Amino acid sequence: MTDNEQPIGHPTLAAAHVSAGYRDHVVSRGLDLSIEQGSRTALVGPNGSGKSTMLKTLARLIKPLSGSVCLDGRDIASLPSREVARRMAVLPQLHEVPPDLTVRALVSQGRFPHVGPLRMLRRQDDEAVQWAIRLTRLEHLADRSVDTLSGGEHQRAWIALALAQQTDLLLLDEPTTFLDVGHQLEVLELICHLNREHGVTVVMVLHDLNHAARFADRLIAVSGGTVIADGSPVEVVTPGLLRECFGIEASVLPDPRTGAPMCIPHATITSANDERG
Ligand SMILES: Nc1ncnc2c1ncn2[C@@H]1O[C@H](COP(=O)(O)OP(=O)(O)O)[C@@H](O)[C@H]1O
Ligand SMILES: [Mg+2]
Repeated sequence: MTDNEQPIGHPTLAAAHVSAGYRDHVVSRGLDLSIEQGSRTALVGPNGSGKSTMLKTLARLIKPLSGSVCLDGRDIASLPSREVARRMAVLPQLHEVPPDLTVRALVSQGRFPHVGPLRMLRRQDDEAVQWAIRLTRLEHLADRSVDTLSGGEHQRAWIALALAQQTDLLLLDEPTTFLDVGHQLEVLELICHLNREHGVTVVMVLHDLNHAARFADRLIAVSGGTVIADGSPVEVVTPGLLRECFGIEASVLPDPRTGAPMCIPHATITSANDERG
C-alpha cells in the first residue's frame, strides 16, 4: 500500500534463531521463519501452543529472548517505533477498552505514525480513517463510545484501527473472535481483498482450521512452541497433523466449492482409544 517496490516473494519479515517468550518462561526456541511479501500466512495450533507469543515477537510487541527479527533486512529492535508502525499494523489478541472514546477517535489513533510534529490529522488522515470505518461497516457507529459496542462491533473497531494505519504488513491475532459466522467471513474476505487488491502481506492467528485453509496460502502449525508443519493448506491439513497437533481423529475432505481441505473433527484421540479399548 505504500510505494514499496520490492517484488512479490521477497522476504519482508524474518525471524532468525529466535527464542520467544517471557522473562520467566521460554515458549519457543530456535525459531526460523520468513514471511514473503504479498503472502497470507495463518498460524494455527492448540491453545497455549505459542501462536500469540510468536506473533507478538514478529510485531515487536515483545523482544526476542535471543536471535533477531528483521523487517526488510533490518533488525526491528533498532528501528524507531514510528517507522515500524508505518510499515506494520498489529491487532493484538487482547485489547483494553479505552473509556469514553468514540469509534472515530479510536480509529484515528491508527494515523499517529503518519502525522507530522504537531500531531494534527490532515485531510489524507481523515480520509484514511473514513476508509477504514467504511470497510469495516462501522459508519453508523462512528460517533458511539467504544465501550458501548457489542463484542463483534468492538472487534471490528480494532480492525479498523489497524487498517487506518495503511501499512503493507498486517498482523492479526484471532481477528474473528466474538464474531458470528457471517461477520467472520466478512472480516476474512476483507483481509483477502486487502491482500489481493492492495498487496498487503498478512500474518494471522486463526482458530478455525477451515477458515485458515480457505483464506491463507500458507499454514504454519505450532505445537508446544515448535513449528511442526509449514506449507500450503493441502500439505498441512492432514489427518496425521490433526492427530499430532490437536490430538483429534478427523476426516479431511476437499471443500466442494473451493477445493480447500476441510477438517471434520470426530473425536479426541483419548476418547477414540477408550471406545476401541
Ligand atoms: N505475559 C506472559 N508471561 C508469561 N507467560 C505467558 C505470558 N503470555 C503467555 N504466556 C504463556 O506462554 C505460552 C504460550 O502462550 P500463547 O502464545 O498466548 O499461546 P496461544 O496464542 O497459542 O494460545 C502459554 O504457556 C502461556 O501461559
Ligand atoms: Mg493466542
